[in-house]
Amino acid sequence: MVDSLLTARGLNKQFRSANQPVAVLSNLALHLERGESLALTGRSGSGKTTLLNILCGLEKPDAGRLQVLGEVFDSRAPEAGSQAEARWASLRRQRIGVVFQDANLMPALSLLDNVRLRARLAGQSEADCQDWLERLDIGELAERYPDQVSGGQRQRAALAMVFAMKPALILADEPTGSLDRHTAEDVTRQLFDLQARHGCGLILATHDTELATRCSHRLDLGHQPGT
Ligand SMILES: Nc1ncnc2c1ncn2[C@@H]1O[C@H](COP(=O)(O)OP(=O)(O)OP(=O)(O)O)[C@@H](O)[C@H]1O
Ligand SMILES: [Mg+2]
Repeated sequence: MVDSLLTARGLNKQFRSANQPVAVLSNLALHLERGESLALTGRSGSGKTTLLNILCGLEKPDAGRLQVLGEVFDSRAPEAGSQAEARWASLRRQRIGVVFQDANLMPALSLLDNVRLRARLAGQSEADCQDWLERLDIGELAERYPDQVSGGQRQRAALAMVFAMKPALILADEPTGSLDRHTAEDVTRQLFDLQARHGCGLILATHDTELATRCSHRLDLGHQPGT
């Protein structure tokens, strides 16, 4: 079994603001093995979300090489963009679970059907979908639609979706951002339990120092080389 889940080298990303280039990531490198967790920290605007988007193929780096779950993405490779897109889409469907800052639920489906759909697309059983909602303490909301629940409840439903797909790698952007202290602790425990049980990798962006200290590694984007 390959233990290396993700290796990134020489990642660069800049955006343009008022027509001026603004460097967000400069020559960034990181490595994650099975069962490891990494906290991305740094002030607001330091590039945490940008990096997570790059690590699941939703944003392209200006330069750099990524090896994710055995797939290689190199900004210098002559591969057609659509081929790389298809490889990324397949990884996100089956092997990389992503929890965004604004929970990404389908508005026309109930919470339970959102979780079931995610499991089905990943080729996993739908049998334990209700159970995931129960564990995240939103079991009684299973038949409600996303716009009928609170932001924190949507965030937990988004986590249930990721858990149900049994991914090899979880990317989570502020997974406890809209939760109260008690619920945040509960969700954090579930997240690390799942990670320990399945030996998957976990990369999360967080301002929560307690959550960051539970991770086996930490990368502070406020202190990248060159910034
Ligand atoms: N599409 C875009 N166009 C221009 N600038 C962008 C774009 N997306 C992000 N940025 C800028 O890039 C920088 C990094 O943004 P990012 O969202 O990655 O920060 P973050 O660390 O996740 O912040 P937060 O903690 O507030 O979520 C910010 O200065 C942001 O304004
Ligand atoms: Mg962010």
